[in-house]
Amino acid sequence: MEDVLILAVESSCDETAAAVVKNGREVLSNVISSQIALHTLYGGVVPEIASRKHIEKINQVIEEALSQAGVRQGDITAIGVTYGPGLVGALLVGVAEAKAISFAAGIPLVGVHHIEGHICANYIENPDLEPPFLCLVVSGGHTHLVRVVDYGKYEILGRTRDDAAGEAFDKVARAIGLGYPGGPKIDKLAKEGNPEAIAFPRAKLVDAEYDFSFSGLKSAVLNYLNGCRMKGEPICEADVAASFQRAVTDVLVEHAVHGAKEFGMDKLAIAGGVASNSALRAAMAEACAKEGIRFYHPSPIFCTDNAAMIGVAAYYEYMAGTRSGLDLNAVPNLRLGER
Ligand code: KG4
Ligand code: ZN
Repeated sequence: MEDVLILAVESSCDETAAAVVKNGREVLSNVISSQIALHTLYGGVVPEIASRKHIEKINQVIEEALSQAGVRQGDITAIGVTYGPGLVGALLVGVAEAKAISFAAGIPLVGVHHIEGHICANYIENPDLEPPFLCLVVSGGHTHLVRVVDYGKYEILGRTRDDAAGEAFDKVARAIGLGYPGGPKIDKLAKEGNPEAIAFPRAKLVDAEYDFSFSGLKSAVLNYLNGCRMKGEPICEADVAASFQRAVTDVLVEHAVHGAKEFGMDKLAIAGGVASNSALRAAMAEACAKEGIRFYHPSPIFCTDNAAMIGVAAYYEYMAGTRSGLDLNAVPNLRLGER
């Protein structure tokens, strides 16, 4: 059979990314132009700046992805692009570019759901991983516990009611003065702290056992910091970071492992930016080993936003016959499983 080469484009938030993926799982190139340094000046992502930067970068990122893969545009079988969820202006840049290439080169266009991309990142380095499995998607914008029934077939067991896990990391990091993006900074600082120093709450939702809530935990950290400041007591930032991180990971691991057991899944994967958190990976590995569940996770570069994961998702959608028209639009609040 002839090789299927997917050119993938991702621009849903603050990374302009393009990749070439061969036959679904072999990443020939993965180019990411990050805007993090730019947004750090403002303490978070500024949507208008993100869109403008995507426009500036997208052509060179795509050219770089093709050249690193050693392929020409004419060799590409289909083009995959993230069309939601995300920032509408940012998404539009990738979608418009992908439509232009699809039209000019006469190749099929496949719109990809960003979260489906995150889940599919697990296929890249785990050749043995096949559905069904359970996947915990934890990123800056999403916290979902997903049952991967088959390729392209998903059931959401639980989601966050308020803040996403990554958002909580970013907000707590800002409160202790670590800057943006907070996740990696808390991860590093927590290594020097005691995770049992401060008892922060673990939210349990009685009516929906797989849903998450992180706003109470975030408020508890802010109240703790304010209390110390008002009483003039010293704050050990490393203990705050470690205790907060333990509270988040306890809930994530508990929900995911409980779900896996309840649904008889012997494979559990994690995905999204927070999946690169070292404490979460260690805790998940330990809990899965105890329960006889196989634990999967992407390398950190495939956890945070990238186009290789979009290329993998686009491959399976392409093979299943999914095609998008030139009327494909950005859908900022696209739900998983919808087209
Ligand atoms: O998946 P991603 O790149 O973008 C979204 O789709 O949202 O995730 C970014 C999020 C940010 O909130 C960032 O702070 C968090 O992932 N993150 C981490 C780590 N690395 C990135 N959170 C905890 N620990 C990390 N090591
Ligand atoms: Zn993402």
